[in-house]
Parts: sequence; C-alpha cells; structure tokens
Amino acid sequence: MGTPKNSLDYLLIKIKSYSLLELIRLEFEAYLTWVFRSFPSFSGYIPRFLIYKILFKKLDSFCFIQPNVYFSYCHKISCGKNFVVNSNSYFHGIGGIEIGDSVLIGPNVVISSGMHQYSDLETPVTLQKITPKKIIIEDGVWIGANVVIMPGIRLSKGTVVGAGSVVTKSTEAYSVVVGIPAKKIKSRL
Ligand SMILES: CC(C)(COP(=O)(O)OP(=O)(O)OC[C@H]1O[C@@H](n2cnc3c(N)ncnc32)[C@H](O)[C@@H]1OP(=O)(O)O)[C@@H](O)C(=O)NCCC(=O)NCCS
Repeated sequence: MGTPKNSLDYLLIKIKSYSLLELIRLEFEAYLTWVFRSFPSFSGYIPRFLIYKILFKKLDSFCFIQPNVYFSYCHKISCGKNFVVNSNSYFHGIGGIEIGDSVLIGPNVVISSGMHQYSDLETPVTLQKITPKKIIIEDGVWIGANVVIMPGIRLSKGTVVGAGSVVTKSTEAYSVVVGIPAKKIKSRL
C-alpha cells in the first residue's frame, strides 16, 4: 500500500477500509456511548445498561459498568449475567468478545480482539489489515487491574488474572495466572 502522501490521503485510505454500513454503525455507537459514558456511579449504571442492551450482540441481565469504560464494535460483544467492569477499561470487539456470567473486570484493562498485521515495511501499521481474533472470557473470571488480554485468548471458567499481567496464552479452568507473560501460580480447586 505504501506511505500516504499527507494526512488527507491517510484519512481517505482509512475511511475506504470500512464499508458504509460499518462506518454508520461505528459513528452511531460512538455518539450514543459518548453521551452516557462518564455519568457517575449508580445513576450512571442505568443508562449504560440500556444502551449496551441495545448495542451489544447479547446482554443477559443488568450490568455494572463504571464510568469511562470504552467499548467498540459493540455488535460483536456478547455478555452474560451480572457483568461488572471498573473505570477506564477498553474493549475492542472487532474479532468478537464473548463474556460469560459473573465476570469481574478491574480498572484499566485492555481487551482487544484484533491484531494489526505488520509485515509490510512500506505501510504504516495503522493502515495494514487487522486480523480478527475472538476473545472468550468464561463464567466467573476475575481480571485484576491494568491487565492486557491478547487477541485470540480464552480465559477458562473461574480464572483469576493478577494485577498488571499480560495474558498471551489461554488459561486452565480455575487457574490463578500472574505476570508478563502471565503464568499459572496456583489453582483455585
Ligand atoms: C493474583 C492475586 C489474586 C493473588 O492473590 P493471592 O492468592 O493472595 O496470592 P499471593 O499474594 O499469596 O501471591 C502469590 C505469589 O504471586 C505473586 N503475585 C501475586 N500477584 C501478582 C501479580 N499481580 N503480579 C505478579 N506477581 C504476583 C506474589 O508476589 C507471590 O509470589 P511469591 O510466592 O514469590 O512470594 C492478587 O495478587 C491480585 O493480583 N489481585 C488483583 C487485585 C486487583 O487488581 N484489584 C482491583 C481489581 S477488581
């Protein structure tokens, strides 16, 4: 593809990489979520639940989304019952994110289900294709603060991910994993 000549060229290439339907959907989602994203605490849970009930592929019950949690590609995100997520976490649903029941997610967690390709040395990474890789978070998972979950990972039932970890491999059920890259330190069983 090569390096764009200027910022306008960059913008046009970027826009052309989306279908019209996708662009409209993402704009709609961006504005609708922006309005209520930072509403404070308990009263803010209600509009956020209603919005994500509409935007998510599936949302099984009332959820507790703290202020300033960011979701994109909501139509590819599905979520079970009693979902709790703390402030400033970021979910990129391009490859699909499936969240089970009773999942607890700490603050500043990054869950991104797409991987930029980077093999073309002439083209900026932002303009190379994104490979979608679904992330699955099974029932009862607890993800601590400041964690990164890599694309394509499955966090099996009951996994605990320690604060500050980077999870690069799928986990065993009821394991406790910590560190960079995250390694199992114990089992909850
Ligand atoms: C993973 C966690 C649940 C483990 O708690 P625990 O069962 O009490 O484990 P311990 O504190 O006994 O730690 C066991 C070992 O793992 C290490 N460890 C614990 N958490 C770690 C982490 N996040 N990163 C790296 N190492 C960690 C400890 O240093 C200890 O190592 P050692 O045996 O060499 O001394 C906890 O440390 C954690 O990270 N909780 C998340 C807290 C959080 O983010 N809260 C806000 C979000 S809701």
